[in-house]
Amino acid sequence: MGEGVLSPAAPADSPLYADAGLERRGGSLHFGGAALTAIADAVGTPAYLYNAGVIRRQFRALDQALAPVPHRVAYAVKANANLAVLRILRDLGAGADIVSGGELARALAAGFEPERIVFSGVGKTDEELTAAVEAGIGHVHLESTAELAALGRIVARVGRPVRVGIRVNPDVTADTHPYIATGQGGIKFGVPVDQVVPLALAVREHSLLTLDTIAMHIGSQLLDPRPYAEGIRRLLELVTRLCEAGVGTIRSLDVGGGIGIRYRDEHPMSPAALASTILPLVQGSGLTLVLEPGRYLVGNAGVLLTTVLSRKHSGGKDLVIVDAGMNDLVRPSHYMAYHEMVEVERGGRPEAEVDIVGPVCETGDFLARDRTLPGLDRGERIAVLGAGAYGFVMASNYNTRPRPAEVVVDQGRWWVSRPRERLDQLFHTERVSP
Ligand SMILES: Cc1ncc(COP(=O)(O)O)c(C=O)c1O
Repeated sequence: MGEGVLSPAAPADSPLYADAGLERRGGSLHFGGAALTAIADAVGTPAYLYNAGVIRRQFRALDQALAPVPHRVAYAVKANANLAVLRILRDLGAGADIVSGGELARALAAGFEPERIVFSGVGKTDEELTAAVEAGIGHVHLESTAELAALGRIVARVGRPVRVGIRVNPDVTADTHPYIATGQGGIKFGVPVDQVVPLALAVREHSLLTLDTIAMHIGSQLLDPRPYAEGIRRLLELVTRLCEAGVGTIRSLDVGGGIGIRYRDEHPMSPAALASTILPLVQGSGLTLVLEPGRYLVGNAGVLLTTVLSRKHSGGKDLVIVDAGMNDLVRPSHYMAYHEMVEVERGGRPEAEVDIVGPVCETGDFLARDRTLPGLDRGERIAVLGAGAYGFVMASNYNTRPRPAEVVVDQGRWWVSRPRERLDQLFHTERVSP
């Protein structure tokens, strides 16, 4: 995840190209069979592009690897909530993992069967829980006794049974950026192991609730399957303890999301490696395995197209100012995340070491630091790779900048799934007086 090591622009045969479905034809970069320059000319920049073929490839690889056991894949909508992306995943047979009323509305709008929706999330309001119960969603994952009490009141009022899970904090430390490690003690996520049995017994007080899932999510951008195995062992121990305590209703083991991808030169676990580590633990338990991948399904399927505005030389540094900023892609400034930058049209210019920075009024507004890139000038475009997950969904209107367009590319065809925001949309609901 870290920034700082110099890396040349990915060569044409870079594995990153295959990950994203990119190829150079002549000097021009193509994505999912479509020329990036043609899309940028038509749609403008900054623009997010998603390659449907890559999403399908990722889903099928994971689904096939898990085939030896009963399983469900619930796509973590938070990674990329674009309706067209959701529809692609729904059509592949994915369920949806949501964390808000907004994501519930999106999942339903994209056509997910309510039954296939899992409501996770560390804090859920009464309104959100009510909407979920009224929609008839498949599972609600509890995070606390207060949430159980609220859900109990809501199901009694609505008169609809709901299956629940308990999201456990298994106290497993995953090797990832501290902001996205979620399985260790002392953080806000999940129910500590020693509080799970009392919470499970309390679920039984509510006749319309059935505890059927034990869940965890230990972190994001995980490269190694071993922390999953450690977490699963702890969850299985808990299932045994629950049985001993008289709770014999557990049917599913939800191991969360977190499967990492290659942003630079990482060696993420393959679906086969994950499967060979975790399936032996689950096989024979009689439980259905549930995964909630986000980044793995969509991360490499996305690029952010941006245009160079100017260059500056200051304090011994070369700076390339582009039209995409931290409001469009916050990962570099928020996590110091690395995204590969590639020139869209090969210009054959001499390379220079540069920082790529946005137009936002923050010194922390950068997309890349200390990169060796061809000397691009105003009007030339850069593709930012690995932008399909936690890209547009984390975009903001800071500096009153409209959020970018979102485009879907599918086997050479492309369409604007979400137009760039118009300026008037940014303030049309504001009132200047009472
Ligand atoms: C409960 C839960 N499931 C799934 C995910 C998806 O994680 P990833 O995109 O790393 O697969 C997250 C991410 O925060 C999460 O909190």
